[in-house]
Amino acid sequence: MDNHFLWGGATASYQCEGAWNVDEKAESMWDHYLHQENLENGDVASDHYHRYEEDIRMMSEGGQNTYRFSLSWPRIIKNKEGEINLKGIEFYTKILDTCKKFNIEPFVTLYHWDLPQYWEEIGGWLNHDVCVAFAQYAKVCFEYFGDKISLWTTFNEPKWFVVNGYKIGNYPPGYQDTAKTMQAAYNVMYANSLAIEVFREGNYSGEIGIVHSYTPVNGVDDSIETKIAMRYADNYCNNWILDTAALGEFPIDLIAYLSKSYDISFMKPEELRKIKQYTVDFIGLNYYSRTLVKSYTEGETQLQFNHSGKKGESKVLIKNWFEQVKDPSNETTEWDTEIYPKGLQDGLVEAYKRYKLPLYVTENGIGVREDVSVDQINDEYRISFMNDHINAIFNAIDLGCDVRGYYVWSPFDLYSWKNGVEKRYGLVAVDFVDNQVRKPKASYYWFKKMIETNGALI
Ligand code: BG6
Repeated sequence: MDNHFLWGGATASYQCEGAWNVDEKAESMWDHYLHQENLENGDVASDHYHRYEEDIRMMSEGGQNTYRFSLSWPRIIKNKEGEINLKGIEFYTKILDTCKKFNIEPFVTLYHWDLPQYWEEIGGWLNHDVCVAFAQYAKVCFEYFGDKISLWTTFNEPKWFVVNGYKIGNYPPGYQDTAKTMQAAYNVMYANSLAIEVFREGNYSGEIGIVHSYTPVNGVDDSIETKIAMRYADNYCNNWILDTAALGEFPIDLIAYLSKSYDISFMKPEELRKIKQYTVDFIGLNYYSRTLVKSYTEGETQLQFNHSGKKGESKVLIKNWFEQVKDPSNETTEWDTEIYPKGLQDGLVEAYKRYKLPLYVTENGIGVREDVSVDQINDEYRISFMNDHINAIFNAIDLGCDVRGYYVWSPFDLYSWKNGVEKRYGLVAVDFVDNQVRKPKASYYWFKKMIETNGALI
């Protein structure tokens, strides 16, 4: 492990900042949706807006040398006319200066799902104009923060927010519509290329990538039917983001298939040329688990998501494509996430072979219910989870992959989308009842030791 390897944690603005209507921040799509549905929200969350200094200091004291976080578009841009909120600029400038003070390398995401509500009101990701607005917002960020950031990413997990927001309907804007899903997916990937164009043409220093929710695909057997199902699953789970962002092309077989049933005339040749031209410098992979599939046999499409934390509620079946199955020999979390570290090793090897770009593991972690009232939280399950996944990264590096960093999700407890604050991922506990007080868990100290010993602990 070389000395420049990045070890740290990742957060997202909506999930940690709180201060949802402070200092002239505009409303985000998530503020609006959760208020309207009367669901647990991130109005206060971890109160990182006021406690960022303590959080970044704890990262540094915990041996970490990097922090991945996102900028909130509605905190920075007040309205669709593009008016800049200088108080938002000031807030992120303070975060970046604090990172510098504590020798923490910032790794910054431009979009982690908190679309300004003023854009959602005029169609959000279905409105093609949002692509240019995203690129303009990106330019504001490059201009104000460019000298303090050398690792940028455009989007966090296009697949996740597009599929959940437009096909499953469990995230805002809550559609269940395949045509809209395709349109939103296309606009996001086009916006990605426009932001990269701004970055390249502006000659900003550093590198720019994208972050993907990576679920490497395995099949239940070696049959031809399973192999076909695997290809469908890979296109659905991974390729439409990674091929498009890294190689500049949507998967041809996916487009050919969809064009038989849907109008895809929104994919304009001149825009596809731009997507081909402006590709990423590196890839961030968020790894929680893999997708194990068998071939489709029967039934309508079912995409059920577990937000209750009661095992057995999730289901993925796409008619004519594939069905996701469970491997009973592996443990799952209460939210049905299979614990499968080998998938990270295999996935890194596969991604490096296919894209030949530097890779970062931009999220990895385990979400559980925890009693944080005890003096010392002994989260040995998290230590074991991280140990096995970091070991998988070491194996991938030994096999020749260029992996440059590891970010645990999350450095401290956050609000989890639609699951609330009871699903905890942090190395540091946040007391959501008592004033957001911080308390390091055993995993925080383990991670520190692991970094200090350069992985010898694994
Ligand atoms: C990733 C997201 O998909 O997974 C995070 O980038 C998210 O924002 C994390 O919180 C864990 O998912 P969840 O639903 O358990 O919070």
